[in-house]
Amino acid sequence: MSHDDFPTDRPAVVTCGLPYANGDLHIGHLRTYVGGDVFARALERLGQKTAFVSGSDMHGTPVAVNAERAGVSPEAFALDWHEGYAETFPKFNVSFDNYGHTHDGANTALTKEFVRSWIDEGLVYEKEVPVAWDTEAEHPLPDRYVEGTCPYCGAHARGDECDEGCGRHLEPGEIEDPVSTITGNPAEYRDRTHKFFEVSEFAEYLSGFLDRVEGTANARNQPREWIEEGLRDWCITRDMDWGVDYPDEDASDLVLYVWVDAPIEYVASTKQYAERVGDDAFDWEAAWRATDVPDDPTEPAAGGGDLVHVIGRDIIQHHTVFWPAMLRGAGYAEPRAVMASGFVTLDGQGFSTSRDRAVWADEYLDEGFHPDPLRYYLATNGGFQRDVDFSWEKFRDRVNTELVGTVGNFLYRSLLFAHRNYDEAPIADATSDEVADRIDEAIADFEAAVNDYSVRALGDAVIDLARFGNEYIQHSEPWNLVDEDPEAAAGVIHDCVAIARAIAVLFEPITPAKCERLWDQLGEPGSVHDVTVEAARESPGGDLAEPAELFEKIPDERVADLNEKLEARVAEVEGDADDEGSESGETSDANGPNNDMSDINPINDDRIGFDEFQELDLRVGRIEAAEGIEGADELVRLRVDLGAETRTIVAGLKQLHDVGELPDTKVIVLANLEKAELFGVESNGMVLAAGDEADLLTTHGDAVPGTTVW
Ligand code: MSP
Ligand code: ZN
Repeated sequence: MSHDDFPTDRPAVVTCGLPYANGDLHIGHLRTYVGGDVFARALERLGQKTAFVSGSDMHGTPVAVNAERAGVSPEAFALDWHEGYAETFPKFNVSFDNYGHTHDGANTALTKEFVRSWIDEGLVYEKEVPVAWDTEAEHPLPDRYVEGTCPYCGAHARGDECDEGCGRHLEPGEIEDPVSTITGNPAEYRDRTHKFFEVSEFAEYLSGFLDRVEGTANARNQPREWIEEGLRDWCITRDMDWGVDYPDEDASDLVLYVWVDAPIEYVASTKQYAERVGDDAFDWEAAWRATDVPDDPTEPAAGGGDLVHVIGRDIIQHHTVFWPAMLRGAGYAEPRAVMASGFVTLDGQGFSTSRDRAVWADEYLDEGFHPDPLRYYLATNGGFQRDVDFSWEKFRDRVNTELVGTVGNFLYRSLLFAHRNYDEAPIADATSDEVADRIDEAIADFEAAVNDYSVRALGDAVIDLARFGNEYIQHSEPWNLVDEDPEAAAGVIHDCVAIARAIAVLFEPITPAKCERLWDQLGEPGSVHDVTVEAARESPGGDLAEPAELFEKIPDERVADLNEKLEARVAEVEGDADDEGSESGETSDANGPNNDMSDINPINDDRIGFDEFQELDLRVGRIEAAEGIEGADELVRLRVDLGAETRTIVAGLKQLHDVGELPDTKVIVLANLEKAELFGVESNGMVLAAGDEADLLTTHGDAVPGTTVW
């Protein structure tokens, strides 16, 4: 079965793989979010009704492990990152219609509904499985709490995924030579009762689904191999506190595996959007729910909209095996397409958060770059499926040749000439046939790119048009015509402004803020974000503003400087044989709190001046009293004597220190840190400690409370 071309008369939903709320975003993540945003904007440009949604992935061991290390509750920890992401995406012009999170009521309620439907359909059963166990910590070891060897390919792997080898999802009990990431000790397997979802029931359905699903080829081919090997049922519960509770009393001590509630957030987030704008504007049920699920497994369900998932290649199996089975089992429609991007790497190796081996989203902006050039680079560098090795040189080359040299140059020449010679754009009556045909061709390329799920081809459609524009203005020489044949000159310039207008419309998905500026320069009314591709055919009509260069050239010195910073960081971690977590590009790897060298972060190469150092008011303090805080697993409230005054300070020391032993300990305090409220207690300063064990800094002589630390 092949699908109708976009635009369809059904509602479309474009989703992006949810970021784990556990660490800073890097430009690898941005490939998913920029890719999704570009595709959603392009669909809208075709007139397709589209909801663009995502949310933060709050549950699971990726969050629990990092929260534990930070000494805060997983909820507070994940919410904090979630809020940060919600602020970061708009800075890259990634404009979700709704950005929720998996811990909110909408998602937890919907997740429970899904699971109940599977139970009602007889798709869930109970089974004893061996679960890795830390005998020293007396702790079950789900997912990232355990590491070992992949039984399929022999690579080093995490408890639930072979992140450095074959990429397969691993079931509890499968990993060989399991080692606890909590204590570093070999783990033991103990039998526990868990719930299983019968994925094997869906083998025939999934094989048909893979024939139908559109998007990138990797999303079809990789799972085919796994299905041919035979589908195993999927353990959907975990021995943890953090997560969505299993919705049945017979297993209320278990939570659902994070990969159950995570994709359901795609639906919950769409629902939140529909509730905000009203069903008439967007009907989430029409988009997601099947009107009929046939008994014949080879038949797709009837109803539903056009669902497009944009993800990285590491999570294909979840989106093309588990997720379609989950949807079918609960009476939902199936995805129309999965677009799985290749990875962004550095020097051919994966990013590693814990080793600071990455180009960070914030870092890019802090360097003063506009977000749109990075969007262009990420969307168009090689095919979407290809891995992209990031380098500042390549970034500079693409920006300087294509954005500045081709697009910017054409726009600036044309608009400057037009502005100097004519007051407003309708210079000739109509666009010439040659140029009108070329714009039609660009629109056709744009439409084809959307139907090919190729964000790269969307970029090419515009670059090619701008290239044509440059040749056109060059060989038409309007500057020579103004005097001898003013009418002909006006015709050429009208054509060039028409091309500029088409560029504003067609480039909007990739460089939205720049195109809005171009739209203003063209004196066009309203916002370029609200027009469809048809607007690219319309004659220009606005008052032309004095043009300014749209894109800025990146000078070589800039690249040298950026490279130096990056290389110093990469060099620091090179030769580090134990680079877990790097291949999958996860936001954090799951090393335990053992203080081996691989846990040492590279030293920050960004020097600060002595003046900046002096801004830190570091003091000797003495703890007078310490007590736990209700509801916070890790936090203690300290009363600290700082000589001149006594402060209340909250610190994550509860599980790492004997609270009763803390009074009378001398500590070092950052006294002029902004106040912060933690679990309802205002913390007025920070007690300094080293490493995962929170080894408290102190003095070894007789410095009294209040003494300044230099
Ligand atoms: N939480 C899961 C996804 C759940 S979807 C129901 C997850 N989170 S993540 O934070 O690790 O990744 C978020 C997105 O970024 C995913 O689409 C992932 O594939 C993508 N990438 C993470 N690192 C990447 C690179 N280095 N390069 C390209 N994409 C990368 O997976
Ligand atoms: Zn493997």
